[in-house]
Amino acid sequence: MRIGILTGGGDCPGLNAVIRGIVRKGSRLGGYEFVGLRNGWAGALSGDGIDLTKESTSGLLPRGGTILGSSRTNPYKTDDGPAQVARSLADRGIDALIPIGGEDTLGVAGRLHDDLGIPIVGVPKTIDNDLGGTDFTFGFQTAVQIATDAIDRLHTTAESHHRVMILEVMGRHAGWIATHSGMAGGADAILVPEREFDVDEVCASLQRRHNSGRTFSIVVVAEGAKPVGGVPSADGEQVDEFGHVRLGGIAVWLEREIESRTGYESRMTILGHVQRGGTPTAYDRVLATRFGVAAMEAVADGAFGQMVGLHATDIVRVDLADALAEPKLLDPALYETAEVFFG
Ligand code: F6P
Repeated sequence: MRIGILTGGGDCPGLNAVIRGIVRKGSRLGGYEFVGLRNGWAGALSGDGIDLTKESTSGLLPRGGTILGSSRTNPYKTDDGPAQVARSLADRGIDALIPIGGEDTLGVAGRLHDDLGIPIVGVPKTIDNDLGGTDFTFGFQTAVQIATDAIDRLHTTAESHHRVMILEVMGRHAGWIATHSGMAGGADAILVPEREFDVDEVCASLQRRHNSGRTFSIVVVAEGAKPVGGVPSADGEQVDEFGHVRLGGIAVWLEREIESRTGYESRMTILGHVQRGGTPTAYDRVLATRFGVAAMEAVADGAFGQMVGLHATDIVRVDLADALAEPKLLDPALYETAEVFFG
């Protein structure tokens, strides 16, 4: 049996560990060959791919990014796209597909399975941790660690200069990275997409803190967080093939607003793609490896239309449709715990 593997959407530390896990498990089972399709669904459309073997995937465990490349190509953007994917897979002799991706990549996977009967097992990936059907996605823990290191560094310079430091982290729909890193780094305010924030309330809480003798503050904001009433959107906003606007910049607005309303000198940092680059943490290497092995087992069992996921400490199989029904938003109880330390 020949299995296609692809990585789609934003890259994420641990993608290569998943690829290695799939190939190693398949080699152990025997009777499987692997093709790595290049650049996400673009490779599934064109058939562009490379053979993957136990030897060629050796040494990948600590390597960031994806050896297959990634893209935000959406086969459903054109009428013929889905049928073209089916033709390319048939031309390459691919019998089953393991797409590794987030809501967009796996959304396409679910539709191709349901519409055309393509045998697919999904693997959940996103640093944002906002995918249903799994308690955690790999890459998230690495991103949280990078953001926490950044907060620790901002802390010392904030203290020296008596400033408000604003750190913008990723998180389009959900504030998982902001809340986990903010809690780990001791943030004085955390702003997330799930809760519109009132900038006056944020400033009042910073003022209370400064009135009680503190001379600096740390604010962590998720890129998708929105103030009540919204912010003026940039002209000519770009959207990707899945209709998402390019986020980034809420911290610029916040820096200006906080400084002008409170008089406290403020500086912002946008952490950006640093959060997605480099080697995965040990936790993410293990989770990615478990997902890869489990995805291969699901293919061997013919459990198509499923995604592997983590429930508590167990790896499970869930229906792709169920996993993708809703984004997994921040647990309100977690945010309430973080709030204890605000202001
Ligand atoms: O993968 C999810 C994510 O990291 C989002 O948090 C962010 O909005 C997006 O990717 C940005 O990705 P890119 O700049 O690669 O389009």
